[in-house]
Amino acid sequence: MIQFDGEIPSKLSQIGLSIFAVMSKLANDHGALNLSQGFPNFPISEKLISRVNHFMQQGFNQYAPMPGIKPLREIISEKVFNSHQLRYDAEEEITITAGATQALYTAITAFIREGDEVIIFEPAYDSYAPAVKACGGMVKYASLASPDFKINWPLVRQMVTNSTRMIIINSPHNPTGSLLNANDLVELERLTRQTDILVLSDEVYEHLIFEGKTHESVCRYPELASRSLVVASFGKTFHATGWKVGYILAPARLTKEFRKLHQFIVFAVNTPIQYAIAEYLQDKENYEQLGSFYQKKRDIFLENIKNSRFKVVPSYGTYFQLLDYSEISDLPEMEFAKQLVVDHGIAAVPVAAFYNQQNNQRLLRFCFAKTDETLIKAGEILCRI
Ligand SMILES: Cc1ncc(COP(=O)(O)O)c(C=O)c1O
Repeated sequence: MIQFDGEIPSKLSQIGLSIFAVMSKLANDHGALNLSQGFPNFPISEKLISRVNHFMQQGFNQYAPMPGIKPLREIISEKVFNSHQLRYDAEEEITITAGATQALYTAITAFIREGDEVIIFEPAYDSYAPAVKACGGMVKYASLASPDFKINWPLVRQMVTNSTRMIIINSPHNPTGSLLNANDLVELERLTRQTDILVLSDEVYEHLIFEGKTHESVCRYPELASRSLVVASFGKTFHATGWKVGYILAPARLTKEFRKLHQFIVFAVNTPIQYAIAEYLQDKENYEQLGSFYQKKRDIFLENIKNSRFKVVPSYGTYFQLLDYSEISDLPEMEFAKQLVVDHGIAAVPVAAFYNQQNNQRLLRFCFAKTDETLIKAGEILCRI
C-alpha cells in the first residue's frame, strides 16, 4: 500500500461507507436476496437501448453542450408544461445533469456558503447533509413523525432564522413512500414568502405514485417555483439507474448560478443517451404507465407478506416499502438487518441510516423494484421469520 503521511483535515469526518454499499456487500457475501439498494433487477426498454446504440453508431459521441442537448431540454419543457402548466425556458431554465445526485450537489454548492443554514426533513436521502457540510453550511434537521411521516409546519416555522438559506424537500419520499400534499406546498409557500430562502425539491420519484394520487410538484405553485430548484432523474423513470442522467429546473437567475458550478463539476453529460431520451420522451406512454407498473409491484410484495409478522407502513409512492418488525424483535435496526441477511438470506436497509442520530423505530426499508419472482421469494422468506 502507498502511504501518505501528511495531515488530512477531513471535510466529512463523520462519513463512512454508505449504508447501501454496506448492505449490498453483506447481501453479496451471504448470497442473500438484495432488496436493500434502490435499483430495478429487470431489464430496461429494448427500444431505448437500441436508440442509444443508434446515436452512438451515427457518431454522436463527442461533448454535448454544457446545459444539455437542445432537443432534450425542449421536450422536458413540454413535458413539465403538460403535467404542471408551468413553462420553463429550454435555453435558460433547464439543465441536464449527471443524475439527480450531481444536480443536488451542484445546487447546494452553488448557493450554500459558510454559516448558512439548511433545513432537511428526516428520515432523509443520504446525499443532502454531506453536501451542505462540505460547503461549510449547517444542517437543521426537522423530524417527520411516524407512522405517516408528515411535516410539522409550526415546528419548521420555529426553525427558520435569518441564516436559513435553503429548505430541501423530497416527494414522493425516500425512504418512507409518503407524499407531500397541496396543504404542505401552500404552507411552504407561506413560510418562504418575502424571504431569500431557496427550495431544493427532489422529485426523482415523480412518476412512481400510486392509487391515483397527484404528484404535488413545486411547479404547480408558481410563487414557490420562483424560488425553487426542481430535480429529476431518468435513472428512476426509465429503470436505468446506472445511466446517471437527470435534470434540474430553476428560474433563469438561479440556473445561471447553478451552471457556473455545473460547467466545472461535469461540464457536460453523456451525449448519445441524451439524444435517445429526447426521442423516447416523445411518447408519453413511456413514463405515464410507471405509477400503475410499480403499484402492481408493491401489491405483489404486500400480498406475499400478508401472512408475515411484519407490519406494513403505507407507501404511496417511490419503489420502497417500510416494514415494522416490532412484533418480531427488540434488536436495533442495524442488528436486525444483519440478522436478516446472515440467518434468513434477505437484505433491507435500516431506516435509522436515514437519520443523523441513533434511533430505533424498528423499521426496515425494502425495495420492490424487482421481478415478480424475486418479490414472491422475498415474501416466502419474510413469512418464515
Ligand atoms: C430521493 C433521491 N434523490 C436522488 C437520488 C439520486 O438519483 P440519481 O441516481 O439520478 O443520481 C436518489 C436515488 O436513490 C433518491 O432516492
